[in-house]
Parts: sequence; C-alpha cells; structure tokens
Amino acid sequence: MNHRRALRAAVTIAVTGALAAAMTMTLTSTASAGTTLRASAAEKGRYFGAAVATGKLSTSAYTTILNREFNSVVAENEMKWDATEPQQGRFSYTGGDRLVSHAQANGMSVRGHALLWHQQEPGWAQGMSGSALRSAMINHVTQVATHFRGKIYAWDVVNEAFADGGGGGRRDSNLQRTGNDWIEAAFRAARAADPGAKLCYNDYNTDGINAKSTGIYNMVRDFKSRGVPIDCVGFQSHLGTSLAGDYQANLQRFADLGVDVQITELDVMTGGNQANIFGAVTRACMNVSRCTGITTWGVRDCDSWRGSDNALLFDCNGNKKAAYTSVLNALNAGPAIPTTPPPTDPPPTTPPPTDPPPTTPPPGTAGCSASVSLNSWNGGFVATVKVTAGSAGTSGWNVGVTLASGASVTNTWSATASGSTGSVRFANVDYNGRLGAGQVTEFGFQGTGSGAGITPTCTAS
Ligand code: G3I
Repeated sequence: MNHRRALRAAVTIAVTGALAAAMTMTLTSTASAGTTLRASAAEKGRYFGAAVATGKLSTSAYTTILNREFNSVVAENEMKWDATEPQQGRFSYTGGDRLVSHAQANGMSVRGHALLWHQQEPGWAQGMSGSALRSAMINHVTQVATHFRGKIYAWDVVNEAFADGGGGGRRDSNLQRTGNDWIEAAFRAARAADPGAKLCYNDYNTDGINAKSTGIYNMVRDFKSRGVPIDCVGFQSHLGTSLAGDYQANLQRFADLGVDVQITELDVMTGGNQANIFGAVTRACMNVSRCTGITTWGVRDCDSWRGSDNALLFDCNGNKKAAYTSVLNALNAGPAIPTTPPPTDPPPTTPPPTDPPPTTPPPGTAGCSASVSLNSWNGGFVATVKVTAGSAGTSGWNVGVTLASGASVTNTWSATASGSTGSVRFANVDYNGRLGAGQVTEFGFQGTGSGAGITPTCTAS
C-alpha cells in the first residue's frame, strides 16, 4: 500500500479541533519530573520505544540518544519476512539478534515486527498461493517466534491486513486468499511458539473511530469471544497536521474489549502543530490504563522513512525538538497504570496460582511492593514484575525471588539480576529507581525450568 497517499487521505479527513479538545481534558495527574522519555514512561509503568535500523547501532551519535531516551526497541526492517526467511526454510536472524542483544545490554524490551505482512514478503512467498502458502506462512510464524522465544515483549503477529476506504473489510493479498481464517491461524501458531509474548494486531489509518478501525474492532471482539489468542492492538499513528478528536476514545473502545493498546509507529508531519499532536497522542495513551507504551518510528528526523517531513522528536543533529518537550511533559503529567485491573476488564473469578498478590507493604505505606504476572510453558517462563512505591517513594528498589529447584534466569530487562538460580535479586537500573509515592514500574525476566512459586519481595532505598 502507498503510505504517503494514505497519509494524505488521513490528513484530509482528520477532524479539526481535536487538539483543543485534547488539550483541555482534565487529567488525574501524578506529577513527576523524569528527565528522559524512558525514565518518565517507566515511572508510569509504561515503555517509550523507537524503531531501530540495526546498521545504525554502530553510530555513537545515534546510540547515545537511543540508550538515554528509549527503553524499548523494534526492528524497522530486520525481523520482517524477507529479512528472516530470504529463501524458503533458510532463516537469517543476524539483524534481529543484534537488536535483541543491544536491548538486553541496555535494559530495553523488544517489540517484534512483523511476523506476517503482505509487504516485504520474500520473492519465493510472493509467488505462492493456497495451501502451500498457508503452510509456509504458519511455518514462518512458528520458526521466527520460536527463535526469539522469551525475548519479545509483544509481537505484531499480523500487520496491515485491513483495507483502506469505507468498507471496513480485509485487504486483498495472497495471504488473505488462503482463507479468511489466516489471521487467527497465525495468532494460534505464535502463541504456541512463544507463550510469553503479547500478541498484537497492528495497522495504520486507525487513528479514530472510522470504518477501518471498526472492522478491526469487530475482528478483535470476535477473537476474544471465540478464545483466539490476541493480547493487544497496535495503532501505528503515522500522522499529518491534525489529530482525530476521538483518538483517545478509539483506543479506549479497544481496551474495553480486554486487550492492551500500544502506539506502535508514531511520527507526525512537521509544522506548527507537530509538538501539540505529539503531546496529545501521549496524553491519550496516558489516559487509557491499558495503553502500555509508545514507539516512535525512528530516532532522529534523518532516520525517518518520511524524509523531509521531519516527523520525529530529535533533529538531524540529535537536538531535542519542541515535540520532545511536549511528549516528556505529557508523560510526567499523566497517571500511572493502575495496579488493579481497570473495571472494564474483570479479573478472573479464581486468581491464577502463578500470580500471587503483593507480599510487601501496599502503596500508602513506606517501602515498596511487588507482584508478578507469569507466562509459563513446559520448560520455561517469562515473569513480569510490577514494583509499586509506598507513600515515601523510592530512590531505588531491590526485588528478591526464590526460584524452584532446577529453574534459572536466562535474561532480564529493565533491572539488573544478581544470581540466576535459587535466591535471585533484581535491582533497579538507572532510569527506573526513583519512583514517587504510589508510582509503578515494571521489569521482567525469562527463565528455564518451572516458574512455580515465584513470590517477589520488594525493598526500597
Ligand atoms: O536494504 C536495501 C538496500 O540494500 C538497497 O540498496 C535499497 C534500494 O532500494 O533498499 C534497501 O531496502 C529498503 C529498506 O527499507 C531498508 O532501507 C527497502 O527498499 C525499503 O522498501 C524499506 O522500506 C521500509 C518499508 O517499511 C517497507 O515497506 C522502511 O524502511 C520502513 O520504515 C517501513 O516501515 C513500515 C512498517 O514496517 C509498517 N508500517 C508502515 C511503515 C512505514 O512504511
């Protein structure tokens, strides 16, 4: 699809006056004063990410900004089908592995993009159809998700499968022609291959309540009702010079279906409104408790696929733009993700045994508390630990867990692990130690063996 044409269309139809509405919105703010995007997002229990072209990881001017400001990355191209399976059955993970290593060394989580997309199919797949293509695509999902198993926070399992225009239906492609159930088949294969990753559907021109976003909404509602494993929806948010007035309402209606939402490819046309639109998108995410993070599609203007649109938060010399300040202020002013599930997403009737309640003081007391959410499979697990500061706040924290016999930690993000078996301790990294009263942050670790019985205890300093 032609993104520039779509972008122009989006700009033309965008509802004016949205910014004014968004800017006068009343926030239940938990003011803080983080000084980087990653620190401010982490204080609110969220991530702030960037799309990375791995070739740029050897440019220090680039990595200086990336490592300072972002705690999540996504490969701009290196995890796509043409890159990871250039010949059928021959897989290449060099670029993706390099990005994962960089992320792990710098306390960043990784979004995976994208297991299936009608664009950037390798040549051999472009020429396929029917059951042969269906087998090849499911094998691709299985192989790639297995390779990166335990290292991906969220996968874009399927990207851009809905058509533009008024119909709200699927886009034609060789993938779609294998049968309308190709998307759910892909999600089931991804879940089987990496049970710890959140599984997302990702698309563009979904920046408000419109025919396309409603088509996707209906699919997600159907998936949830039939138990198809979907955890999140990505809103690319390649934006023009105005923002739909119902941008936040659209995110919220998806969240109300019981999925997380994420802003996955944010960039905004340069011009007088750029800073305001970046700020309004950030506020919208902060106001939706299931909006878990924001990713900009690149770091500096000159890194962007949008070229002369100067669509990002840093100029070509690496200087912070007005849009940067607007985003940072919105992160600092926004509410933290609540520690209890939102009312629209009722908790299970019996608490899962792998998700015990906090064992240390709840917010409102000094110290800190920690709770764990566990995704386990036969032979491994991913633990996501939520740290909540007590009434005195924290300048640092340390979380201890005791692993089951035979279990060991193989990978940690957004914390530093001491030890890997038995009693293991996790200390904050530089950007997420300082928490205001009641504020939350998250870190995670992957392990082999059983995750049974993990009960985190939190100590504040
Ligand atoms: O690496 C080759 C290089 O060897 C060759 O000389 C050159 C010649 O054209 O091409 C290079 O590959 C290009 C690649 O970017 C890396 O720069 C491809 O041609 C080009 O098509 C590819 O564009 C990417 C585009 O997706 C593909 O459709 C953009 O970088 C990437 O930013 C863009 O990202 C997409 C998301 O995946 C999905 N949502 C929309 C978004 C923007 O279009």
